[in-house]
Amino acid sequence: MEFGKLLGAKTIDNRVEIEFEKQDVVVQIITDEILRVLVPCWKKDYKSVAIEGNPSIPCDFQIEEDEGAVQIKTASVILNIWDDFGFVFTDKYKDEILTSYEGQRSLEGALSDEAVGLLEAEGHHLSGAKRVNYKIQQIFRLNEKERFYGMGDKTGFLNKRGFAYENWNSDIPQIHHENMPALYKSIPFVIGKGPGYTYGLFFDNTFHSYMDMGKESTDYFFYGADDGNLDMYFMTGECIADVIEHYTYLTGRSPLPQLWTLGYHQCRWGYASEDDIRTVAAKMRQNKIPCESIQYDIDYMDGYRVFTWNEKDYGPKGQLISDLKKDGFKAVCIIDPGVKVDEGYFMYDQGIKMDYFARDRDDKVYVNQVWPGDAVYPDFGREAVRNWWATSHKELVSLGMQGIWNDMNEPASFNGPLPLDVKFHIENRLTSHAEVHNVYGHFMSMATYQGMEEITGKRPLVITRACYAGTQKYAAVWTGDNQSVWSHLQMLIPQICNLGMSGFAIAGTDIGGFGGDTNPELLIRWVQAATFCTFFRNHCAKGQKLQEPWQFGETVVEIYRKYIELHYRFLPYIYDLLFESQITGLPVMRPLVLQYENDENTYNLNNQFMVGENMLVAPIVEQGMTKRMVYLPDGNWINYWTKERFSGKKHIIVDAPIDVLPIFIKVGSIIPMYHQVQYVGEKPYDSLKLLVAGDSAWGSHYQDNGEDFAYLDGEYNLYSFTYENGELDVDMLHEGYEKYKSIDIEMI
Ligand code: GLC
Repeated sequence: MEFGKLLGAKTIDNRVEIEFEKQDVVVQIITDEILRVLVPCWKKDYKSVAIEGNPSIPCDFQIEEDEGAVQIKTASVILNIWDDFGFVFTDKYKDEILTSYEGQRSLEGALSDEAVGLLEAEGHHLSGAKRVNYKIQQIFRLNEKERFYGMGDKTGFLNKRGFAYENWNSDIPQIHHENMPALYKSIPFVIGKGPGYTYGLFFDNTFHSYMDMGKESTDYFFYGADDGNLDMYFMTGECIADVIEHYTYLTGRSPLPQLWTLGYHQCRWGYASEDDIRTVAAKMRQNKIPCESIQYDIDYMDGYRVFTWNEKDYGPKGQLISDLKKDGFKAVCIIDPGVKVDEGYFMYDQGIKMDYFARDRDDKVYVNQVWPGDAVYPDFGREAVRNWWATSHKELVSLGMQGIWNDMNEPASFNGPLPLDVKFHIENRLTSHAEVHNVYGHFMSMATYQGMEEITGKRPLVITRACYAGTQKYAAVWTGDNQSVWSHLQMLIPQICNLGMSGFAIAGTDIGGFGGDTNPELLIRWVQAATFCTFFRNHCAKGQKLQEPWQFGETVVEIYRKYIELHYRFLPYIYDLLFESQITGLPVMRPLVLQYENDENTYNLNNQFMVGENMLVAPIVEQGMTKRMVYLPDGNWINYWTKERFSGKKHIIVDAPIDVLPIFIKVGSIIPMYHQVQYVGEKPYDSLKLLVAGDSAWGSHYQDNGEDFAYLDGEYNLYSFTYENGELDVDMLHEGYEKYKSIDIEMI
């Protein structure tokens, strides 16, 4: 990208259009803290998929022009731009935050455009390869101490510095190792944290993109993309939490879910018949392992045709669902995007008749293969297609389906990748797979959310594998096809924490591992580490060892039960955090660096995490280990199990035999808990227990009907608790729902 000399600037409303010799740049003042810098080399008018509506808030800003330079100043940020699109963002005190890099990239080992062309023609997959040129490229100066967080589901460690990634939603059945370029999700958002400054950068471009976070060089980091605009949102804040708040202000927040969806789910691809499902459900109850749903994987469909029911193996439509409902089980089923090519099958016939499927370069309906064999791809970017898909959920809902799990929506394909020129739309604009690929899962999730909301009137449970920035408004996520290996248990923590810092407050991994055979120790350590996950599901693949806890003997059942029960007892705390998340965008599971960001010990902490502000969890994620080092940050902490007290800012060694997940509660906090149930709704949650940590403590709590949208009309309670001098004081900050009959305390 070439810019040349800066020739001048003009201001139109909240936009400053800066003219260069070769390529103009537009700076849009979104808020005092958020500036959008757009280089419209592809399109001037572009409607973001991630950001809905107009996020701009009128604010005062000043612009100053000097020869060859422009300065834009809001109450919080100053942006200076000069020739060749050099720039620096500073805070209001003129302390530097982010600066363009004016040197050249070091290109040893990088592939030229010509080499890329030749290798691709020979069938090489160049994912992860370093290139000389990216059509869109922006290089930034890298501070020696800078760290990076966020970026969605990328594998590896909490701190992304020193690694390079790609944004191209990828179905990867092979083992996910620590430095993969891409997985299922594309969230081109990164939080930069250097000495004395914090910022966020969101690159709103859905084409294949690249983020090198200091792997190529220690002097710079860069963003590249194959097409589209350079469309970057810079956001500043005092701390990481501020930046997450700004980012989720732009792209949206995870809406409050139904309470039951946060409970435990059991699943397996390969429950071949209704008997399998009935047996698993019965064993859950016999073993007294609380459980909300046995999720229906593709086996429940007739020949993997979406929106159908396999009556041969799964019995008459609706029967299984209504039988299990009597025992408190909710039904959640998988829906993939690929529609089987099959004349006479209603989804295929309707889609063909209405012209709802993507077409190839010759304008024929594009066919690839997924589970049902030959399949076609709904063009979800179009509103009409989303409406059709949304309505298609009616029958499933009438059979009792309460949640939908969207899979294979990268979109996956078994017969080679979809060519980049397959024709899709974004709303009414005809475009190609190259632009739509990374938002295919997003649009599918939107359609599913819309359908479930319209049909049920309840808060939809949509789980998606593929997504883009902003999909958190419509769906929860899981991390896809992990494996039953210790390195994947270890990865759970940074992966869920980084997804959380990228806006996804509701997320989980397949407990026990999806591919490969799990074993008793791994399964136990996995359920422990996942105890505070907001999507809490044991799932595994066909052909692998059965993974329900009773497959591994009585000891495993006992320990497994202990942690599922613990999850249920802490449900009100998790729910409270999700209520707050709608206002702050902060996740439930947080890395320590999010709460204690000036403490160096937290910068690269991959193996422990916070649940909200008041609970610290340090799981065992290594085979054979029964003690571990735990870092306790500032404050005073109580071991949840032993009640031992510790002052913070130090490392301690804690005992963690196989049945112990180390948990520490922060002194001064009050944590709400519920009584034990086998499923949400078994007994009314009409009483509350408060875990009071210390002689003087404070907490708050949110309560509503846990199901629909009445809370938006004020039907909820918000409590504030103060414990002092041996007495609990309850203050109602909002009263709009039936209050608890009793509130008890348990001192810790
Ligand atoms: C994909 C999903 C997995 C599912 C399987 C069969 O691999 O990621 O969760 O079980 O497809 O539907």
